[in-house]
This record gives sequence, C-alpha cells and structure tokens, in this order.
Amino acid sequence: MDVNAPPRRISGEPTIPAPVRRAEPTVWRNPQRRDAVSVLAASAFSEADMRRAEARWRRFAPLLAQLFDGTEDGRIDSPLLPVAPDLGRTLLGDAPGAVWVKADHDLPVTGCIKARGGVYEVLAYAETLAEAAGLLRPGLSYAAFASDAFRDLFARHTVAVGSTGNLGFSVGVMGRALGFAVEVHMSHDAKAWKKQRLRELGARVVEHPGDYGLAVAAAREAFQDRADAHFVDDEDSVDLFLGYAAAALDLQRQLAEAGIAVDAAHPLYVYLPCGVGGAPGGVTFGLTLLFGDAVRPVFVEPVAAPCMLVQLASGLDRSVSVYEAGLDNRTAADGLAVASASLLVARTVGGLIDAVVTVPDADLFRWLKVLWAGAGMRLEPSAASGFAALSRFLADAPDVASATHVVWTTGGAHLPEAEFAAALARA
Ligand SMILES: Cc1ncc(COP(=O)(O)O)c(C=O)c1O
Repeated sequence: MDVNAPPRRISGEPTIPAPVRRAEPTVWRNPQRRDAVSVLAASAFSEADMRRAEARWRRFAPLLAQLFDGTEDGRIDSPLLPVAPDLGRTLLGDAPGAVWVKADHDLPVTGCIKARGGVYEVLAYAETLAEAAGLLRPGLSYAAFASDAFRDLFARHTVAVGSTGNLGFSVGVMGRALGFAVEVHMSHDAKAWKKQRLRELGARVVEHPGDYGLAVAAAREAFQDRADAHFVDDEDSVDLFLGYAAAALDLQRQLAEAGIAVDAAHPLYVYLPCGVGGAPGGVTFGLTLLFGDAVRPVFVEPVAAPCMLVQLASGLDRSVSVYEAGLDNRTAADGLAVASASLLVARTVGGLIDAVVTVPDADLFRWLKVLWAGAGMRLEPSAASGFAALSRFLADAPDVASATHVVWTTGGAHLPEAEFAAALARA
C-alpha cells in the first residue's frame, strides 16, 4: 500500500475539467503521477511478468517466422525511425531535442499495435491448450504449432473478442492461422472494411447496436461459460497487457542501438494513442520497468472520447464514462472511440502517466496528410493522433522541446486505398 497515493473516492461527483467537458483540446498534466518505484511496488505485475511474456514471444518465433512474411526473425516489431529534419524543426524549433517514430503503423502481420496484445494472447491460449493435451515435449520447436496434430486440437476451439476493429483483426489473423474458429463482436457503426477483412479471414463477425463497450460486454457474457472457447477481454486481460508491455524491450534495444540515452538528465516522452487503454497502458508499464521516472508517457485521446482522462481526473475508483462527462464518443479515430477506460489499466498505470492530451478530429486528418506528403507514412486517423498531441504538448510545455520524443504511430499500413484517399481528402 503506497501511503503517498492520493485518496481514491468510490462515490461522489466525478471531477472533470470544464474544457474537457466542452470537448476542447486539452493538455492535462496528471496530478496523480507518482514516482515509478512506489507505483511499481504496489502493482500486481512485475518485471518478471514482462520477461516471461518476452520469453513466450521468443518460443513462438519459429512459428511466426514460418507463418508470416516480414517476420524472418520471428519478431512482430517495427523500426524506430527518425523524423525528417524539416518536420523535426517544425515541431521542436531550434531546440536540441529529437523526434522519433515507433512505426507500428507498419507492424508486420497486421499493421497495428494491437497485434502485440492480440497475437500474444492467442499464442498464450494455444500454448495452454497444447500443454493440457500433452503435445508439448522438451526441445520441441514451436513451428510444430502449425502442424496437423495441433491444428486439429485448435479447430475444436473458438477464440472470441469484442473490438473496435484492430484487436479483432489481430486475434483473427493469428487465430485463423492456427485453425481456431474466431468470433469478433463489433459495434454496428465500426468501420465496414474492418468487418469485411475479418470475414475474408473466415472469422464470424457479430454486430451489435450501440458502442464498442456494449459489444465487448455482450461477447463477454456469451462466452463466460464456454469450456471450448477463450474470450480475449480488451477491457480486462492480463495477457493482452503483458503482450503490449514486452514492446518496451524492443524499444529499449532500438534506443540503445541509436545511441539515445534515457535517464534523469535525458527524459523520454512517448506519445501513445489511447482507446480502452490496454496498448498504451502495457507499453507504459514496460517502459517504466526499464527506465523508471525517466520515461514520460503521454496518452492521446480524441476530444469526444477521452475515456482515460475522464477516468483519472474523476478521482473515482469506479468506471466513469465520457457520456457522464457530457461527451458523445463520436470520432473519426475509430480505434480510439471508447467511452470507458479499462479499470485494470487505469489502476495499474494511472500513477505513471505524465499527461493526457486530447485532440480534435481535424488535427488527425491534417497530420495524416502532412505525414503522408512529407514522410510517406500511411496512417489511419487514430495513429496520426500522436503527432497532433506532440505539437499541442510542446505548445503547452515549450521547455520539453530539448528532450527525446517518440511518437508511437499505431496503425494504418493495411488501410484500403479508398479509405486512405477519403481520409486525405478530409485534411
Ligand atoms: C490504431 C489504433 N491505435 C491505438 C489504439 C488504442 O489501443 P487501446 O484500445 O488498447 O488503448 C487502437 C485500438 O484499437 C487502434 O486501433
């Protein structure tokens, strides 16, 4: 129990800043940020958990290398890219800082950060089933998971998930590649092309009236008593969280290779688009394990769907939705269109987040166009939000321009041409 933790109330009115309620772009510095050591000491997870997740990724490397193009070393990871000098100057002026892109928009297999959690959780389930069936023996190469004996086992099981689209795709690609039946629950107004590509994979898509949160709740209920199925719970899954957390080890290696110091004198600001919070939360947790207080996670949310900001600012230890704050959760950033943050994530990393920046949709389209024209980066609106946030954050805190900034571009490479052209046209 951390005695320095601010008191959490379980009842009362949520305290949410007026500009946030009015859907105005906001830079919210987290008053609950505390020192990494005390937050990590109070956490249910540890560095050993992240290392175990990384070890599982490595066990499955031979399988991933065999199944998917672009993963020759069996890693689902993206490059760390410097931004073009012009763009860096536009953002930082003459300050000596640097801007880098963690290019998950081009992540192998799915072109989205959600693969880090979704693929990981399917692999974890497959491993558990294989072990229970006696299929694992010492020294076995996990390439065997693609063999008939394993596929026959998996074909008798279903993997289900509720998703805004990209988690469903990640679970769908991995699940179908191993022979699982896959069922993806989505809100009726989720992107049609994301549903279509799932159907093309052979996944069953179940549409729900209402928002993403209702789709997740319906799927959770439908699968709660199914012994032959596994529900990937975007709001509450430890495996997802740890799959994302392992990304921190990839970034740590790349920062070292690029000669970038991260320590008290060289803070690292990381801009993370946030939907339900799993991906940015897991990455934040992993980076804090590795870099302590030197890492400054900045979560990025649409002005209409700032669920993590609302949750943390509310000061309440119960779920608080953006609807309660008078917001409508309508945004072109479909991956971030989430009304209620994961409580697992809010409780685990709420004390580690440096700031939450909310951005209007117009910023997303403008940055999407700038990044395509200036750097050839193909992003979906959700993924362009990190750059929108960086420029607003620097305007609010010019003194941090001399630091290192990593913008996590979380998705986009698989956007269909017509969708991308339409997004560019909205700039
Ligand atoms: C492109 C993109 N970026 C970021 C996120 C946010 O991830 P999370 O919902 O785990 O916060 C999502 C979620 O689907 C996404 O699709």
